[in-house]
Amino acid sequence: KQEPKQFTIGFSQCTGADNWRKTMQESMYRELSFHPEINFIMKDAGGNSATQIDQISEFISQDIDLLIVSPNEAKPITPIVEKAYQNGIPVIILDRKTNSDQYTAYVGANNVEVGQVAGAYANTILKGKGNVIEISERPGSSADIDRHQGFAEIISHFPGIRLVDKLDGDWDKYSFQKPLTAILKANPDIDVIFCQNDRRALTAFRVCKSLGLEKKIKLIGVDGLTGRDGGIDLVDRDILNATVLYPTGGEEAIRTAISILQKEAFKRENRLQITMIDSTNVRIMKLQSEKLVAQEQDIERRQEKIEEQRAISENQTVIIYSISVT
Ligand code: FRU
Repeated sequence: KQEPKQFTIGFSQCTGADNWRKTMQESMYRELSFHPEINFIMKDAGGNSATQIDQISEFISQDIDLLIVSPNEAKPITPIVEKAYQNGIPVIILDRKTNSDQYTAYVGANNVEVGQVAGAYANTILKGKGNVIEISERPGSSADIDRHQGFAEIISHFPGIRLVDKLDGDWDKYSFQKPLTAILKANPDIDVIFCQNDRRALTAFRVCKSLGLEKKIKLIGVDGLTGRDGGIDLVDRDILNATVLYPTGGEEAIRTAISILQKEAFKRENRLQITMIDSTNVRIMKLQSEKLVAQEQDIERRQEKIEEQRAISENQTVIIYSISVT
């Protein structure tokens, strides 16, 4: 018989629409496939903070055993996450943060460091002199605030480098196309564009290309996903100069959740490592990530097989039982 569900985990996802979040979710489900005792409910806020607040409220009233949350924007989501925590629900903050330290554990990379690494790379390209534009992640998210802080801090050490403008990326990937086109037309001596994620970087590349500037302007992105048009592929195809690999933390979040629920030891701060990918290491990163994907698919196939076997043996038990009672 199927084991009864022992715990319910509610996952409040800020948006589920992009490949980075899909990769995060896949890694969560893969890890969950080892835990049939967990009832996992995901609610996708579609990039809307008011929706996310409502969905977390629903989780609180459903009396879930643990909340995982990736906050859309830091400020508006803070009070409701604090409420969950004060109601005694263990809270894991994943990737983006709130403005509060009222949480049980954090899983994610340091976004200030992401910005710093990108800033240092911009300086390597520019050798201390040039003009830069930054295009943000979701405005108001901790990723946007922290990546900008780290980037601007490093750039400020080089008086010859000027951060000309910071454009809002927003969830709509096309929203900055017009202002970027206008800036590049008015300011032909832009040398580097730092995009806070690779999706924006691909759009920025298309804008540069439409103006014939794609050879001149160097692009730096963040995320470094595998697969077609993922950051690794974009660096490999010379569309991006570099990207900062930003891990999703899905698997680590589930592992931490299980430890908390089983009352085992866990780390409160789970800092994931970031890496710069450029032409010097992109081949090895590509090979390694493809290998990892193959291994993950293998795990999924094995889990499916186990599931099939379990269903067959459950069926047989029912048949044997019905034979013995007739
Ligand atoms: C996906 C995403 C990633 C980014 C992360 C930051 O929704 O925008 O591209 O690295 O969120 O929170």
